[in-house]
Amino acid sequence: MTAQTPLIQEELYEIESLMRAQASGQHPDLASALDLLLSAGGKRIRPTITVLIGRALGAPQQKLITLGAAIELLHTATLVHDDLIDGALLRRGTPTLNSKWSPAATVLTGDFLFACAAKLAADTGSLAAMSMFSRTLQTIVNGEISQLFTNRCLPNREEYFKRIYAKTASLFETCAATAAMVANCGDQMINPAAAFGYQVGVAFQIIDDILDFTEAPETLGKPTGSDLRQGIVTLPVIAFIENNPNHPLSQKLSAGECFDSQNEVESFINRIKTSDAIEKARDEARAHLVEGLKKLSYLPQTEEILYLTEIVGKMVDRKV
Ligand code: IPE
Ligand code: IPE
Ligand code: MG
Ligand code: MG
Repeated sequence: MTAQTPLIQEELYEIESLMRAQASGQHPDLASALDLLLSAGGKRIRPTITVLIGRALGAPQQKLITLGAAIELLHTATLVHDDLIDGALLRRGTPTLNSKWSPAATVLTGDFLFACAAKLAADTGSLAAMSMFSRTLQTIVNGEISQLFTNRCLPNREEYFKRIYAKTASLFETCAATAAMVANCGDQMINPAAAFGYQVGVAFQIIDDILDFTEAPETLGKPTGSDLRQGIVTLPVIAFIENNPNHPLSQKLSAGECFDSQNEVESFINRIKTSDAIEKARDEARAHLVEGLKKLSYLPQTEEILYLTEIVGKMVDRKV
C-alpha cells in the first residue's frame, strides 16, 4: 500500500535494512526467522506514518529511521505472538512461524523481536519516546490478555472500543506522537500528532474487522471469518445487532449466549456480510478518519502532511 512511496523511499529502505541487521551475530535460526518475517512484506503503515510526521516536524532522518524500525519490529513481535495465541496458520500470505515451529521457539522469537524493538527505541535517545513506547507495549499486552479472558460473544460497544484502542490504536498513537518527540517538539505538536494517530488507529482496526467478514484469506494473506468463530464480537456484529434487534441471533448474543454449532456461526457470518452493518461500520471508520485528519491541520502543511492525508483518505476503502 505504501512501500513504493517515492517521497520516503530512502527512509523505508533504511528501516528495512536496520530491521534485518538486528539478527546479525545471533543464532542462525533467529536470523532466518527474522528474514522470513520481513521478506513476507506487510504494509509498513506504522513506520510510514512515523517518517511522514517526523519529517514534517523537522526530525533528524537517522532518528526517524531508528524509530520507524523500532515500531515496525514491535508490531511484528505482537503479530508473532498473536498468531500463536490465535492458532493462525497464515500471515502476510505466508505460513506463520507457529505453523512451522514449536510454541517455545515461536515465543522466543517474539521475545527477541521485542528486545530488538526496545533497543532501537533506546537508540533514538528520546526518553519521552522510550517511555511512551514501553507504556504502549503494556497496553497492547493488557489488551491481548483481556481479550483472552473476556466473556465470549458479548456485544458491547464500550468494550469493543477499549479493545481496539489497546490492540491497535495505541500503537498508531505512539507512531505519530513519538515522531514529534524525536523532532524535539512540545505538546503543541505532540498532542495533535497523538490524536491523529489514535483516530487513524481506531479506523484502521474497524476496517480490519470489516475485512475479516468481507475478504477471502487469499486476498488478505491471513485467515478470515475467524473473529466471530472465536467468539470475538467486532463492530460489524454490534452494528448488525443494533439494526436488527429482533433477529434470532441478535437475541441470542444479547442474552449472553454463544453459538451452538459451527453451522450457526457460519450462517451469522453470511448474514452480516450481506447486511448494511458492514457499511454502517465503514461509516464509523470514516468518521474517525475525518477526526484524525482535522488534527493534521495543527501540523506544518508540508508535502509530507499532504501525502499522509492522501494515504489516510484511501484507508477506508482498503482491501488488504
Ligand atoms: C495487522 O496489522 C494487525 C492489526 C492491528 C489489524 P497490519 O494490517 O498493519 O499488518 P501488516 O503489517 O500490513 O501485515
Ligand atoms: C492483532 O489483532 C493485534 C495485535 C497483534 C496486538 P488481530 O488478531 O485482530 O489481528 P489479525 O486480524 O490477526 O491481523
Ligand atoms: Mg489475530
Ligand atoms: Mg483481526
